[in-house]
Amino acid sequence: MSVLPIVTYDDEVLRKEAEPVNKNSEEIQTLIDDMFDTMYNSDGVGLAAPQIGELRRIFVADADAMSEEGEGPQMGPIAMINPEITFQGGDEVAMDEGCLSIPGVNASVKRPEKIVVSYLDRDFNEQELEIDGWWARVIQHETDHLDGILFLDHLSMFKRKLLGSKLNEIAEGRADIAYPVVPKKAEQK
Ligand code: NI
Repeated sequence: MSVLPIVTYDDEVLRKEAEPVNKNSEEIQTLIDDMFDTMYNSDGVGLAAPQIGELRRIFVADADAMSEEGEGPQMGPIAMINPEITFQGGDEVAMDEGCLSIPGVNASVKRPEKIVVSYLDRDFNEQELEIDGWWARVIQHETDHLDGILFLDHLSMFKRKLLGSKLNEIAEGRADIAYPVVPKKAEQK
């Protein structure tokens, strides 16, 4: 098991669509273990495979700590393979979001409070989960990553502009980040 460097804003791999995973393998299991290690090492509640440069439809999450504060459901650590959100409902609620690929940046994002998600668990069994609260939030955020969508994309142009200098710091490799990240290529900016 190992901690992998995280890809940060505005690396283009974060903007690509990830490929479905069709077959279980030792490599996939190692990838999932490494993703959990990487997520916990950076105190994250979720991490999608594109964030470590792997364009595959997998994410890991553990939102129990946040869920506890909000008195939401407790699920334990979860890996989802090929997740598909089949229902979004309830009120649109605004909650503060961050992202391991956009360190130090937080913003209030509106999302539906309740979802149904179907996915393969790490043993490749088909699962369906109906959930709300923090977990629903995290699952929507991570599933977005698999389609090249960042939480920034849910903000107004105005709000996004306010974050501009912080985003530039990250994009140019000047941000102070407390966990391993993929270094910026000099020619990228
Ligand atoms: Ni994220």
